[in-house]
Amino acid sequence: MPNETLLKFEEKMQVLKNDGLYRTFLPLDRCAGMFPTAVARTGAPGNGSIVVWCTNDYLGMGQNPLATDAMIQATREFGVGSGGSRNISGTTHLHVELECELASLHGKDAALIFSSGYVSNEASLTAIAQVLPDSIFISDALNHASLIQGIRNSRADKMVFRHNDTDHLDSLLAKLDPQRPKIIVLESVYSMEGDVAPLKAIADLAEKYGAMTFLDEVHAVGIYGPEGAGVAAEFGIADRFDIIQGTLAKGFGTVGGYITGPVPVVDAVRSLGNSFIFTTSLPPGNVAAALAAVRWLRQSNVERETLRRKSRLLHERLQRAAIPVTSRDTHIAPVMIGDGARCTAVSKRLLTEFGIYVQPVNFPSVPRGTERLRVTPTPLHSDEEIERFVQALDQVLGDARWMAA
Ligand SMILES: Cc1ncc(COP(=O)(O)O)c(C=O)c1O
Repeated sequence: MPNETLLKFEEKMQVLKNDGLYRTFLPLDRCAGMFPTAVARTGAPGNGSIVVWCTNDYLGMGQNPLATDAMIQATREFGVGSGGSRNISGTTHLHVELECELASLHGKDAALIFSSGYVSNEASLTAIAQVLPDSIFISDALNHASLIQGIRNSRADKMVFRHNDTDHLDSLLAKLDPQRPKIIVLESVYSMEGDVAPLKAIADLAEKYGAMTFLDEVHAVGIYGPEGAGVAAEFGIADRFDIIQGTLAKGFGTVGGYITGPVPVVDAVRSLGNSFIFTTSLPPGNVAAALAAVRWLRQSNVERETLRRKSRLLHERLQRAAIPVTSRDTHIAPVMIGDGARCTAVSKRLLTEFGIYVQPVNFPSVPRGTERLRVTPTPLHSDEEIERFVQALDQVLGDARWMAA
């Protein structure tokens, strides 16, 4: 590569650094059996032992012994890789069993698994629009990047409704030709806000205007609803959403994504979704672990109930300390900081002085001026850890040196 070309990359990285957008990662050893404790290789005090407060392994299933054993056993039995794409020798009986389990979890006729939740959204929305010429997506303003990318790649038209604003959604739908295929795309729990969509009102609007619905339950599956089937199931209206999408990576603690829905739609994504078709399928050990996690959480409420109790305690303590959060609706407690540099500074001080790890969430993950610490308790955080966390955060936020920074 010519030097001038390399220089372009260096210049771009410098721009990102100047704008505070350059990403740095904290190398972390998650210690199996000791969650939420981990060891940070750099930046933490003492021996590097820290408490993780920003995990998406919401229920600690990433270290669940049943899931771990299932992964080891399947890996010993079938090897570390699937050996191909789903179409070309990469479908094991475990892939099929997991899809049956997920369809049953959500009360749908079919399911399809993907290498990630991101890919499942991107592939599905792109494929759905291919089947519905002249369709239009109507998308919540705070939808995840994977949903936005799927809509973009489909090249279909799109309209954006204000976050969780059903009056705005209604007014947009009312303007559309009744004959035009419409797909409402939304999430149940919004990751960066920690709030919940008005699912019943949106299902009513979908029915009124004859729209198809695509519901991302990534931050809800395993965690809410009977058997961990998500928020729509908790409200008793899962059958009113055509496609329910989820991840195996958060509540279920492993990796991979999925959709569930009617057979013809799932079949269409299976046959037309490029990022489903042209890639190696999930390894059998991974699929076995996910299957064990889903099955366990279908019959155990302990993790969900404990998470609910811990979330309540965390929200109570934050409220008592007058620490502002964007929402108290869910297990996600986004603490508003409102400035990228200060958010990074607060996070760094929590790590270096208190051994508390919360990654700052800055632009472009959230709009400028709304930078935040996205705090996520788990069933495995002790009550004492919650008290210590809020005390430390209160101290750091209350310190004039940092607030003025
Ligand atoms: C709403 C939403 N959908 C999809 C994804 C992607 O899921 P995965 O991490 O399994 O790729 C995320 C990731 O955090 C998300 O927040």
